[in-house]
Amino acid sequence: MKGFGGSGGHFHMGMGMRSRSGNLPFAGIPPEMVGKTNALIRKEPDFSDLKLKFSYRAPDEGVFTLWSFLAPYKYRMLGSLALVALTEMLLLVGPYLVMIAIDDAIIPKNFSVLLLVAVAWVASLIVAVIVSGYRIRYVAKLGQLLMYELRIRVFTHLQRLSLDFFTGEKAGRLMTRMTSDIEALSHLMQTGLVNFVAQTLSLIFIIGILLHFNVELTLILIVIAAPVMLVMTSWFRKVSGKGYENVRNRIAEVLSDLQESLSGMRLVISFNRMKHNVINHRNIVGDYRDANNHTAWISAIYSSATMFVDVATTLIIIIIGYFILLSVNPTLDMDGEFTVGALIAFINLAARFFKPISSLTGLYNQFQAGNAAVIKLRGLLSTPPSVLEKEDAVQIVDLQGDIKLRNVTFSYDDTAAVLKNVSLHIEAGHSISFVGPTGAGKSTLAKLIARFYDPDEGDILIDNQNIRDIGLQSLHSQLGVVPQEPFLFHGSIKENLRFSRPDATDEEIMEACKAVGIEDLVDRLPQGLDTPCHERGSSLSSGERQLLALARAFLSRPRVLILDEATSNVDQQSESRIEHALDTLLEGRTAIIIAHRLATAMRADIIAVINNQGIMEMGTHEELIDKNGYYADMYQTWMEQNAGTVIA
Ligand SMILES: Nc1ncnc2c1ncn2[C@@H]1O[C@H](COP(=O)(O)OP(=O)(O)OP(=O)(O)O)[C@@H](O)[C@H]1O
Ligand SMILES: [Mg+2]
Repeated sequence: MKGFGGSGGHFHMGMGMRSRSGNLPFAGIPPEMVGKTNALIRKEPDFSDLKLKFSYRAPDEGVFTLWSFLAPYKYRMLGSLALVALTEMLLLVGPYLVMIAIDDAIIPKNFSVLLLVAVAWVASLIVAVIVSGYRIRYVAKLGQLLMYELRIRVFTHLQRLSLDFFTGEKAGRLMTRMTSDIEALSHLMQTGLVNFVAQTLSLIFIIGILLHFNVELTLILIVIAAPVMLVMTSWFRKVSGKGYENVRNRIAEVLSDLQESLSGMRLVISFNRMKHNVINHRNIVGDYRDANNHTAWISAIYSSATMFVDVATTLIIIIIGYFILLSVNPTLDMDGEFTVGALIAFINLAARFFKPISSLTGLYNQFQAGNAAVIKLRGLLSTPPSVLEKEDAVQIVDLQGDIKLRNVTFSYDDTAAVLKNVSLHIEAGHSISFVGPTGAGKSTLAKLIARFYDPDEGDILIDNQNIRDIGLQSLHSQLGVVPQEPFLFHGSIKENLRFSRPDATDEEIMEACKAVGIEDLVDRLPQGLDTPCHERGSSLSSGERQLLALARAFLSRPRVLILDEATSNVDQQSESRIEHALDTLLEGRTAIIIAHRLATAMRADIIAVINNQGIMEMGTHEELIDKNGYYADMYQTWMEQNAGTVIA
């Protein structure tokens, strides 16, 4: 079902026990099972009230920043931070209890106090375990919610962008945006931010407690450890920041190479490029491996150096602590200013002083990766659709289909114009065919009329209304486009046909199939209309795919039909069958037919010959023959060839 915006009805039907006309007959849930299904539904997350902000107008939502993204959840974030603070505090009870155990139980040989300390310790651990278990669940759920919203927001934005964006952008790169960039942000959300707060709090608590134990020792610890740590950390930040960026670039390359070779598999096999492909992929994956090894190496150096500093500092503290103890409390009085218990607790806690520092530097990387992802996603989310809808766009309900082009000039890349100064009038209900050499701009002209792109100069009017003033949805809902490369989604044939009109009944779908002459094809298929087809429809022949695309366009009963080489891959017999069907189907409709085969092209009311300059000749078949120009030449060649076939 994925990929079908309009036919999500099946899903709701199961959930809400509603039946919609046009779907499979649905008898309802047997009464004895209603209770259980309702209980199940109650546990299901409710996907039905997804609030989508979707428009073709320029500003979609505000600028995407980490803060604007998190703001709606600030109370929940604070809640999770409170849980984090609680766990960190509970975990620091230990060293305190060590001090009490030594000074008040072991040295005075008081077993009942020791027992009490043990009980208190176990109790604090149990509470810590429960709280942290709850915290992990809470934070993970919040993180998933954020990611869910973000994925939908990015996907929705992609849906509203214009065609030029998708042709200009490498598909692999968009995939990276949707997968690893969101993944990086997800890491930051789920572990990064929480850990950052947890470690910072833990550092503050530890320093607080250390100061309480002994001020001089704490200062020494900070003076010795802090500068060394700072130098090491800044080195690590610099080197690993670069390293991680490299890793991310490499993985993007791995992904796009994978995608390219998988979608071009047919060519790979037929040109025996398998070995070459493997070598190429091995190099790319090898680079990725090297990049990862490099960061692992940096981390290894850093963490062992940290460990060394850790041990060295502990030794220094023991020695200095020994002298402080002797000078402040030479009798080792357990009620003295500084006690043996306090020294041991200090050493115990000092070991934990390094952990937050090194995790914080690790988190810095995660933060950088997340921030890079935010910047890239911001770039994507702030790209407006290039074909914009006006604030006061008119929604036309009853399109007549009168199409005028006035001095239209258009280029894809602002350099060489594909169409120059094209003017054209197609009256409502008439058909026009575009013929001309490959690459002349026929498909481009059709795309401009469907407003997939906006012309650089000049205007296109439909029913005397500038196309730029018409609501895009109302325009597209009355156009039926059969593109040059028909695309079928993963799903059944029926779902693919219903794509153009989600509420079409099975009878209407069958009618459309009959109209394009594929009812026997459908009958032949093992499951009829329910036969699954796959992405790009590679299980069907090209001709069959074209016919399905044609049926899909007919099903929506469009006022204007645009057929771009819609019959170029079907056999002569099917083509003539479609032509007959077209005669009835086109009645009262405006049609734009792009065809290389003159047999198809000459059935239109007017024929326009397009070349690199724009429209070269235009008129009815007879007029153009009389004119004795390009079209007459084409016709002549075609006739001769046909005569040849007949004789042969
Ligand atoms: N998305 C695009 N970006 C840049 N250039 C493009 C794009 N699509 C088409 N072109 C260029 O515009 C020109 C016209 O292309 P168009 O597809 O309109 O030709 P056509 O007349 O339909 O050809 P054909 O008969 O082969 O279908 C070509 O030179 C093509 O290279
Ligand atoms: Mg074309």
